[in-house]
Amino acid sequence: MSIPIDQFKHVMRQWISGVSIVTMQSAEHRHGLTVSGFLGVSLEPPLVLISIGQELTSAAVLKDSAAYVVNFLREDQHELSNRFAGRLGEVDRFAGLNTHQAVTGAPILDDCLAWLDCRVVSTQVVGDHTLYIGEVMAAGVNGSGKPLLYWNADYRQIDNA
Ligand SMILES: Cc1cc2nc3c(=O)[nH]c(=O)nc-3n(C[C@H](O)[C@H](O)[C@H](O)COP(=O)(O)O)c2cc1C
Repeated sequence: MSIPIDQFKHVMRQWISGVSIVTMQSAEHRHGLTVSGFLGVSLEPPLVLISIGQELTSAAVLKDSAAYVVNFLREDQHELSNRFAGRLGEVDRFAGLNTHQAVTGAPILDDCLAWLDCRVVSTQVVGDHTLYIGEVMAAGVNGSGKPLLYWNADYRQIDNA
């Protein structure tokens, strides 16, 4: 028998991660959500994966878009993270943001720290999430800066780099 969910959450909070906004463009919708469930998985070919809740709107849009951009957030972009996580209510998540279109058609956030434009090459339903493996078709770093971190259920900054 596996461990209780509260124990799982309690332990997982001790793991630190970066914070990204994953964006996508289907025939009808531009959409995005905050994601820390991201991993680089292969160098040749360059592959990454994101883990997305099966019941989310984002999962439906991803099914149609078959592509996504992972936008790494800067250390001062926690408001953006909250907005794309739905913590500010039903707002236009892209309001006031400058974007440009990636090779795959998904929007790149111009002010993010770095980005990866990915074509979905494989999906795997795992528990209540779906893993989307993406082949990286284009990528870039926007100048210098430090990434936003997430640890123990809150945003953190690197203070010694
Ligand atoms: C720091 C942070 C990290 C998150 N990471 C993920 C993630 O990896 N996968 C996921 O499905 N949801 C994640 N979420 C939650 C989604 O961003 C949130 O449920 C969002 O509102 C989903 O949007 P949608 O319902 O429009 O698809 C995260 C939220 C926060 C604040």
